[in-house]
Amino acid sequence: MHVGRTPERGDEDLFLEAMAVLRRNDMGDWTKAAPELYPHQWSWDSGLISVGLAHLDPLRAAQEIRTLFRSQWRNGKVPHIVFNPLAPPESYFPGAEHWTSAGDFPDAPTAPPYTSALCQPPVHATGALRVWEISCERGEERKIEATERFLREIYPGLLAWHRYLLTDRDPQGTGLVTIYHPWESGTDNSPRWDGALRAVEVGEMPGFRRQDLAHVDDPSERPTDADYVRYLWLVEVIKAYRCDERKLRRSHPFRVKDVLASAILVRANMDLARISSIVGAPESDRETISGWISLGRRGLESCWDEEYGLCLDRDVVSGEPLRARTFAGFSPLISGGLSEERKARLLETLDSKHFLGDERLARPLPPSTSPSEALFHPRSYWRGPVWPVVSWLLWRALLDLGEPSRARKLLEESLDGVRTGGFAEYFEPFTGEPLGSMDQSWTAAFVLDWLNHGRGGAG
Ligand code: SER
Repeated sequence: MHVGRTPERGDEDLFLEAMAVLRRNDMGDWTKAAPELYPHQWSWDSGLISVGLAHLDPLRAAQEIRTLFRSQWRNGKVPHIVFNPLAPPESYFPGAEHWTSAGDFPDAPTAPPYTSALCQPPVHATGALRVWEISCERGEERKIEATERFLREIYPGLLAWHRYLLTDRDPQGTGLVTIYHPWESGTDNSPRWDGALRAVEVGEMPGFRRQDLAHVDDPSERPTDADYVRYLWLVEVIKAYRCDERKLRRSHPFRVKDVLASAILVRANMDLARISSIVGAPESDRETISGWISLGRRGLESCWDEEYGLCLDRDVVSGEPLRARTFAGFSPLISGGLSEERKARLLETLDSKHFLGDERLARPLPPSTSPSEALFHPRSYWRGPVWPVVSWLLWRALLDLGEPSRARKLLEESLDGVRTGGFAEYFEPFTGEPLGSMDQSWTAAFVLDWLNHGRGGAG
């Protein structure tokens, strides 16, 4: 049982503002990740937006995940974007028309809403379980039953999704997820990918016009044009392969073992194991899932870097670790099951001058990239800014690892950051300035979860 936080002055207003952000971005059955920059349904955003929505209405929260899974591919993949057929084509690039037309990808949905051919970190079992748990905390019998029915209904889809990641995306059986595009990591322009991207040779492709820069004040907050050329080239290759997993795993130019996605998958498998008990799934499922958890933890252990005191991604093409000090290195905290020694070393790195010990930080919140990293940039998307999703993932991990005071500090500092800067997509780490999109849905969702922590339901 976690000890709840003591309410503070201003909580009530923050709660109402967070609720208003989610209401404004609510499309009925799903939520726009942000009002303009992200006008479609994004996979890992929605998986975690459901946690915030559960504090408002567990049934609407369940619907968020249900809608996303309606577009699940036949091979189990949950697409990274489900395109809103009503959004104007010029609102986002690359949109549905760039990705697909019916029949282009044999496993994809054949009627609108169309999807991208990529995926994102598998937070959905975690979201689904939290929806049910929050519903139980709120104690409304009818909604508890309904969310339990939801778990029963979504369980086969979740199992198929995890199986896809552990087979098609891990044919080597390492427990580590291979990604084919930086967008699949959810941390697009992180220095994690610089080494692997540099090696990608870009060929002839049609010109394109970015839309993302129209929605931010300062282009340095977004990935560069040089990044975008490579992103679009990788999309061209995936399209040319018609997303055939066998071809991709043999010869796609960008194949990387992503430690963050792998740790999130372990966490999701722990949550899927609980769901499988709640829904009375066969014992054989539980054995399979338990095997996936152990395999994932072993895989992460194999990525440990003693010098950095972090876990590192690995380039499958070159076979080399990708050396960059980023928050993703803390992945074993998320996957859990680690030795006391490993935990202590990771927390030491977290407190070190490379992360929270950097005296220039406006607040002791983990920057997405270490300020001591040569490729750090305090305003550029995943190259330095503080992201609420990072703080939320670490907060949950610290609670589970029996570190309540560290967890509480993360929570209070994060809430304070939003109180001062608003519901931004990300924040400048040295000044706290809000950056990227404003009214970002998952920022609001995390605020609702933090404000309600330990309070047994709606604020
Ligand atoms: N994160 C990417 C974007 O900014 C794609 O998911 O559009």
